[in-house]
Amino acid sequence: SRTLKPVSTVVAQNGTKNFSTSCQRNFKVVVAGASGGIGQPLALLLKQNPLVTRLALYDIAPVTPGVAVDLSHMNTPAKVSGHKGPEELSAAIKDADVVVIPAGVPRKPGMTRDDLFNTNASIVRDLAVSIAQNAPKAILAIITNPVNSMVPIASEVLKKAGVYDPRRVLGVTTLDVVRAAAFIGEINGVDPRSVTIPVIGGHSGVTIIPLLSQSQPAVKLTDQAKIKALTERIQEAGTEVVKAKAGGGSATLSMAFAGARLADAVLRGLKGDSNVVECAYIKSDLTEAAYFANPVVLGKNGVEKNLGYGQLNEFEQQLLKAAIPELLKNIKTGEDFVKK
Ligand code: NAI
Repeated sequence: SRTLKPVSTVVAQNGTKNFSTSCQRNFKVVVAGASGGIGQPLALLLKQNPLVTRLALYDIAPVTPGVAVDLSHMNTPAKVSGHKGPEELSAAIKDADVVVIPAGVPRKPGMTRDDLFNTNASIVRDLAVSIAQNAPKAILAIITNPVNSMVPIASEVLKKAGVYDPRRVLGVTTLDVVRAAAFIGEINGVDPRSVTIPVIGGHSGVTIIPLLSQSQPAVKLTDQAKIKALTERIQEAGTEVVKAKAGGGSATLSMAFAGARLADAVLRGLKGDSNVVECAYIKSDLTEAAYFANPVVLGKNGVEKNLGYGQLNEFEQQLLKAAIPELLKNIKTGEDFVKK
């Protein structure tokens, strides 16, 4: 499905020759972990995306074929298929353009994202092995926590298989951006959809760095203590949800919304739209950390351009300084897992 139609020469009505590139707008998207708290609402949103013509749902849960049947009754074009268990994984992944991964266990109160590592590392590794075999050109969007370590794991697996392209492996940090925009919208009394705010670094605690100084419109907070409190609220927003759900899991609905937004941006990039910009956690040489999140341009090969993070104020420089050692540690944990 990836092959682009050739550039055709068209003779316009006024007789001049124009070059028109017909662009692909039919993509296969896989959700791996599709029956979970994030997976189901994410699949619901993707079924409504006009760029998705095939939606493959993969999970180990027995309900998975049923989730697919359920969604298939929606009168939107995407054809839905359900795939349950490892023996059906290859068929799910085969020829995917995009694989979104929310497979794995979520946090319970008192847990950090790193506590999930042992369970989730092998899940992401096995999915990456299948992607290398069945859809080596697919773009991976990894939601599974700890994202800071899962992206290095998938990258190392693809490297071992000889199919690694750093432009095609993204850690999903969109929820941090969505949260920051929601909170700023509230503070400023504006529609949160009108807020643009880069969140850089990674996706856990101190590695989440909202660049409040770059918010558009500017955050209506002048007091540095309030800026600090808002920064910490964004960093700990996931824990806010974990506590409120009191043992029932972590963010799922807002994550599905954020995941669908990122997937849509990836698809618009693949389709050839210009100026598609989102934050994502990617292979990077901007800092000491081998992977780092910041705004990127998405295009026909995934990450087309790393936009960097611009100018940081003194407070944000301190946040960056605190994030780097944690990121380095998380990245090493992921890389070591694949090497051992
Ligand atoms: P959940 O437990 O509700 O769903 C996880 C799903 O993964 C289940 O359906 C389960 O059967 C499936 N699964 C388990 N092992 C699998 C395997 N080997 N292959 C395929 N599927 C498998 O969990 P939830 O709430 O959906 O969270 C999923 C992950 O997303 C967690 O790791 C969580 O920490 C993470 N997360 C990430 C966020 C982010 O901003 N990047 C935000 C919120 C959660």
